[in-house]
Amino acid sequence: MDVKAVFQTLAKKNKKAKQTLSRKPEPESVTDTEGSVNDYQEMMKTNMTANYAVVLDLIERTLGGNNRTHALDLCCGPGHLSICLKKFLAYESVTGFDLSPRMIAAAQGNATRERVAYGMTFSQRDVSKPNLTNGRLFDLVLMANAAHHLPTLEHVRRVLHEAEKSVTAEGVIFVTDLARLKNEEITRNFVSLAGAEYGDHMRQDFLNSMHAAWLPSELASSIPSTSDRTWFSLTMKDLPFFQALVGIPAERNVLFTGKGRNWLQSGIFPNTGAEQAFLFMTDCLYGGTVELVQDGRKHGKRVS
Ligand SMILES: C[S@@+](CC[C@H](N)C(=O)[O-])C[C@H]1O[C@@H](n2cnc3c(N)ncnc32)[C@H](O)[C@@H]1O
Repeated sequence: MDVKAVFQTLAKKNKKAKQTLSRKPEPESVTDTEGSVNDYQEMMKTNMTANYAVVLDLIERTLGGNNRTHALDLCCGPGHLSICLKKFLAYESVTGFDLSPRMIAAAQGNATRERVAYGMTFSQRDVSKPNLTNGRLFDLVLMANAAHHLPTLEHVRRVLHEAEKSVTAEGVIFVTDLARLKNEEITRNFVSLAGAEYGDHMRQDFLNSMHAAWLPSELASSIPSTSDRTWFSLTMKDLPFFQALVGIPAERNVLFTGKGRNWLQSGIFPNTGAEQAFLFMTDCLYGGTVELVQDGRKHGKRVS
């Protein structure tokens, strides 16, 4: 099967279609069953590494020469991205929060196994609750692949409010996630294709996630109106199944100040399929739209 051609056909269909797929929240917002945690443990062997490399690349391009000292990974799951922040972006410390005790235990085990446990801490925490970090500040706050797990946009707004309280003045906030496609047929075809290497259980989880995903306009609407940051929303061209919302200091008006690196040489990808998925995703993301959704210089007030 010519995967690229099938994607192109899906992209054409999605472009023409009306948005008829409404959101269905995740059946379980917190992932704490043994089966789902075990499935998620396998992600570093799959195309999901393309998603992780895109997130790392986005961070690297946005940070430029900025500090890479303390990172906070919200809804860290089994810590795959937290570990990548340490291994590939050389963060001194990485703190991961997740509400699932099984995910936290898995993250601790993975960090030890990967020999990066020094400087990494994982704790069970509801990221939508107040006083998330009790005043501790981070120069990167990330929530990847998890906004769709939150039951409502009000929960996402609370997380962004806490993220803003937890980031240094020069720091950056990233929310990266799946994005809902236009209708059920396109979504099912996309999941069969992109999740071809997954088992049935994982593929069903992937489909649930695509149903629960926010549209970029919905996600952007959750930015607190009190935010004094400048926020950009990134949407892919062609088949927009992935998105990013980035909050940078108000006085900065350029999103990308750094260069990417050659991720194909980094050792993050387990196979050539994941490499191809990464090239496809970066082509669609950097060729897509970067929209200024809130200008901190115009609208912001300091969040208390
Ligand atoms: C799809 S996983 C993403 C894991 C990780 N960020 C990654 O990209 O590999 C979503 C995670 O969000 C966690 N989660 C959902 N709601 C949460 C909440 N309110 N507070 C903390 N974690 C939450 C789930 O337990 C799950 O581990």
